[in-house]
Amino acid sequence: MTRMIERWFPCKEVSENSTAGWGSGNTERALFTWFAARPIAQAKAAVICSLLPWPDDEGEQKRLQDLVRRAMTGRYAAHEELRREILAANPDGASMIDPFSGRGMIPLEAARLGLESHAIEYSPVAVIASHLLTDYPFRDWRAEPELPFGPRQRADLNTYDEESAAERYLRDVKAVLEEVGKRHSQSMAAFYPEVDGKQPWGYLWAVTLPCQECSRRFPLVGSYNLRMPSEKKGTKRRAALDDPGQSFYIDVDPSKGTFQAVVHDGLPRKTPTLTAGSPGARGKAAICPFCSHVHTLETHKRLANEGHGEDALLVVADHDSQFGKVFRAPTEQEFLAVSSADTALQGEKWFTPVLPAIPNELIPEKSGATIRPQLYGAKTYGDLMIPRQTLSFVRMASLIAGLTSELRQAEVSDSYVRALSAIAASQLARQLRRSTRGATLDVARQGSHDIFVNESTIAFSYDNLEPGIGTGPGTWASMCTGGLSTLKNVLDGIKGLSTDVISGSATAIPLSDSSLAAVVTDPPYDAMVYYSDSSDLMYAWLKRALYTSWPEIVVTPDDRGLQDKSEEIIVMDHNKTPGEHRTRDHYDRLITQAFSEMRRVVREDGVVTIVFGHGDPDVWRRLLGALHDAGLVMTGSWPANTEAGGQQGKANIKTTLTMACRPAATNRPEGLRAQVEVEVREEVKARMSLWESSGLAPTDMLMASAGPAMEIVGRYSMVVDHKGDQVDPYEFLIVARRAVQEAFRIEIDHHPLDTFDLRTRFALWWLQLFGKSETGKDELRWQTLVADLDVAAVRDLMTETSKGFRFTDAKRYAKAKNTPPISEESSVIDVAIVMAAAWEDGLTGVGEVLAQSGRGDDPFLWAVLGFLADRLVESDADAVACNRILRNRTATQQFAKGATSAVEAQQAADRQTMLQFDDE
Ligand SMILES: C[S@@+](CC[C@H](N)C(=O)[O-])C[C@H]1O[C@@H](n2cnc3c(N)ncnc32)[C@H](O)[C@@H]1O
Repeated sequence: MTRMIERWFPCKEVSENSTAGWGSGNTERALFTWFAARPIAQAKAAVICSLLPWPDDEGEQKRLQDLVRRAMTGRYAAHEELRREILAANPDGASMIDPFSGRGMIPLEAARLGLESHAIEYSPVAVIASHLLTDYPFRDWRAEPELPFGPRQRADLNTYDEESAAERYLRDVKAVLEEVGKRHSQSMAAFYPEVDGKQPWGYLWAVTLPCQECSRRFPLVGSYNLRMPSEKKGTKRRAALDDPGQSFYIDVDPSKGTFQAVVHDGLPRKTPTLTAGSPGARGKAAICPFCSHVHTLETHKRLANEGHGEDALLVVADHDSQFGKVFRAPTEQEFLAVSSADTALQGEKWFTPVLPAIPNELIPEKSGATIRPQLYGAKTYGDLMIPRQTLSFVRMASLIAGLTSELRQAEVSDSYVRALSAIAASQLARQLRRSTRGATLDVARQGSHDIFVNESTIAFSYDNLEPGIGTGPGTWASMCTGGLSTLKNVLDGIKGLSTDVISGSATAIPLSDSSLAAVVTDPPYDAMVYYSDSSDLMYAWLKRALYTSWPEIVVTPDDRGLQDKSEEIIVMDHNKTPGEHRTRDHYDRLITQAFSEMRRVVREDGVVTIVFGHGDPDVWRRLLGALHDAGLVMTGSWPANTEAGGQQGKANIKTTLTMACRPAATNRPEGLRAQVEVEVREEVKARMSLWESSGLAPTDMLMASAGPAMEIVGRYSMVVDHKGDQVDPYEFLIVARRAVQEAFRIEIDHHPLDTFDLRTRFALWWLQLFGKSETGKDELRWQTLVADLDVAAVRDLMTETSKGFRFTDAKRYAKAKNTPPISEESSVIDVAIVMAAAWEDGLTGVGEVLAQSGRGDDPFLWAVLGFLADRLVESDADAVACNRILRNRTATQQFAKGATSAVEAQQAADRQTMLQFDDE
C-alpha cells in the first residue's frame, strides 16, 4: 500500500498553522521545559499522512486530501472521520512509535486520535515530560480515592457521572500544587520576611568581587535600570499618573569599605559598575566604585572562576497597584533573613545516603559553552543559585518527595502518586528557568528573563533576580497558575488513548519485528542541541523531588550523578575533552543503528517518517547515507516553512522537512547512472502535475523532488557509472532539482534559460524563485549545486541577512570593492546589474557600461533587462532603472556605439524622461 505521505503532504496547511494557534504547539510546549519542539501542525500532518493510504483512484485521493485539509484546521477537527479512515486503512493495527520522543509532541497526535502509540526517550527528564503530555492526561483517575488535602468532591455529586476525568485530574493537580505551595511558604516565611505586612515580589542580587587595586569588594552590575519611565499608568481605583520610572546606583563608604544600593526615581544617574570596556576591548569591564580601578573581562572572569565571588542583596521589589512593581533598599530584617537562610542551608539533611540536599552533581569539564556559570566558578549544579534560593528549592523538593508517603497512606495508586508528584516536580523544573544566577530582571516587562539564552544554553549574570515566595513572575504561585491553565488547555475536549512511554534508547526498540504501521520521529541532529547536558540542572532537582515516587530516575551509571550519556545520539562539538565519546563517528554509527531498528519494527507496508529541521545539502548527504545503510529508501520529502528561534530575538527562516521512507526491497538489481538519471527526470516530471494541482510553490517542489528521486534510486541495490564506480545517491537529488527547473521551461524573452551563461542562468532562476526576498541560508548551496557552480562563483550576487540571503541590489553590487570592471568577458547578468546601477548617472553612465561590455546589440542582454524590469517589484530601484533603460534603448545603443555624443545621448534621455512623466 502506498501511503499518503509518499505522494502528498499538506505543506501549505502546515506552514500556515505552525507559527500561531492550535498548530504552533505553544500550549503543549508550555507544560514542561524541553528543547527542539516541532510545531504540532507538522506532528499532526506527519502522523496522519503516514497512516492514511494513497489510493489509486483520483476521486478517492481527492476525498482523503480534503479530509486531511479539514483535519488541519484544529486540534480535534474531523476527528471521528479521520480515525475511521485510518483504522480502515490499517486492518493489522494503526500503531506507531516515536523512538526519539522528547516531550512527545509526535505520539501525542496519535494518542489524540485514540491510536496505539509508543514513545521512546533516552533522557529521564524528557521521559517525565512525555508522561505528563501523552500519558497522564488521557487516563481516567476517577476511581482514585480523594486526596488527603484540597477541596473534596462535593458529597452530592456522583464522581463518575458528574465530574469528567479531565475535571478530576485538574482538581487533584490544583490541590497538590496549592498544598505544596502553602507548606513551602510556611517553611520559608522566616527567610523571606514580609515588610509592612506585604510579601515582596523579588530581590535583586549581584556577585561581588575584591578589587585588584584597593582590595575592597564591590558588586558587578550591568544595568542600573529598574523600571522604565512611562506616561499615565493607572487603575480603575487610582487616577492615572505619569510613571517617572526607577533606577539605582551603588553608593560607597570608602572609609568603611562598604557599599549600598540607592534607589531613586527616573533614569539611571550613574554608569553601572560593569560597563563597556575601552575601545577594542573584549566584553564588559568591571569598574571599582571605590577606586575606579578597571578590571578587564579576563580579570573579573578569572576572579569569579577562582571562586572569589560572593552574593550581595542590593534591591527589593514590592508589588504596587499603581506602577506594578516599586523598588527599594532592603530592610535590616531582610539582610538578617539572608544570613539566617545561609545557616539553615548548612543544616539541611541529606535526602538519601547518596543524595545530599544541595545538588553535588559535578558539571562536566569544559562545559562553559553550554553551562555558562561554569566559566564563573560553578563546579556543581548546586552552585548555580544564591544560598537562600538553594534552600528554597531544597525545601520544595523535599515537600514534593514527602507527598508520596502521604498519598500512599490515603491509598492513592502508585501510578497516580507518580503522576501527581511529576506534575508538582514539573513546576519546580519550570521555576528553574526563572531562577539561578542566570535569571535577570526583565525591566521592560517587570518580570525575569529565562535562563536559557538560546535553545538550550544556561546563562550566567553577575546581577540577577531572585523571585520570592509570594506572587509575581517566577514564583511558585505564578508557575502553578500558568501550569494549571496550560493543563486545562491540554485537557480541553481531550479524546484518545494514552501513549506507552518507554525510557530507553532508539538503538534498541523493545518491540517485535514488523509490528507497527508507522514510525514517526524527529531525531536529534549532530551538535544542534546538547539535550542531556542542557537538562542536567533540571535532572539534579527532579531526582530530589521524585526519589520517593520515581526511584528509578535516581539510578544512573554516570559517576557524577548526571544523566547517562553513553548512548545519547548527538555530537558534542564544544567539549573536546579527551574521552568525550559523542563524536561524529559515534553519532553516525548510532543513528544508523536507530534507523535499522525503525526498519525492523515497521511492517513491510509501513513507513518510517522523519521530521527534520535541516536543509543543508551536506546534512542530506549524511542522512541519506545512514538511511541507506539501515535498509530504508526515501519515498517522499515535504517542506514546511516555520520561523524558528536561533539566538534570542533572531528568527531564522527555517524549512523543516517531513520525509517518508520505506523498507528497501530485497534482491534489488544494480542500476546504471545514465539510465537512473533518465528515470529520475521522468518520475519528477510525472509528479509535477499533482504538485501543481495541490498548490505546491515552486520552491517546495524543489524539496519535494527528493522523494521520487530517492524512490527511483532505492529500486537499485546501488547505482554505478560507466566505469563501474558507485554513484552517491545524493547526486540524484541534484538531477531531480534540475528536472523541476526544466519542467518550468523558463524562457527569457523567448530565450530558454539554458541558452544563457552559467552565472546568468543561476541569477535568473534565483530571481524567478525568490525575487529579492530573503531565503534560508541553505538555499544558496542547493541552487549553486543545481547550476553546477561553486558558491564562491555567485556569492557576490547575494547579500547576507540575519535570516539567510537575498539577491543583492545593483548599486550595492556595483560599489562593492571586489566587483570587477565590466568588459567583453563579463557575464550578461553582471552587465545588466551594473547598467541598472549606472542609471543614477543618467544615460551616459549606462551607455558607457554598455560600450565596455560590447553587448549593445546582444538580444540576451536586453532580454535580461526586460526580465529584471518585470520580475522585480515595481517600486524596486533596479526595476525602475531597467524600465527606464529599456525605454531609452535606442539612444543608449547609439551612445555605446559612439554614434552620438554624450550630450546628444543625455538630451535624448531627458526627452524620454519628460515623455515618461507625461505618461505617468
Ligand atoms: C529533536 S528531539 C525530539 C523532540 C520531540 N519531537 C519533542 O516533541 O520534544 C530528539 C530527542 O532525541 C533524544 N535522544 C537522543 N539520543 C537518544 C537515544 N539514543 N534514544 C532515544 N532518544 C534519544 C533527545 O533526548 C531528544 O529528546
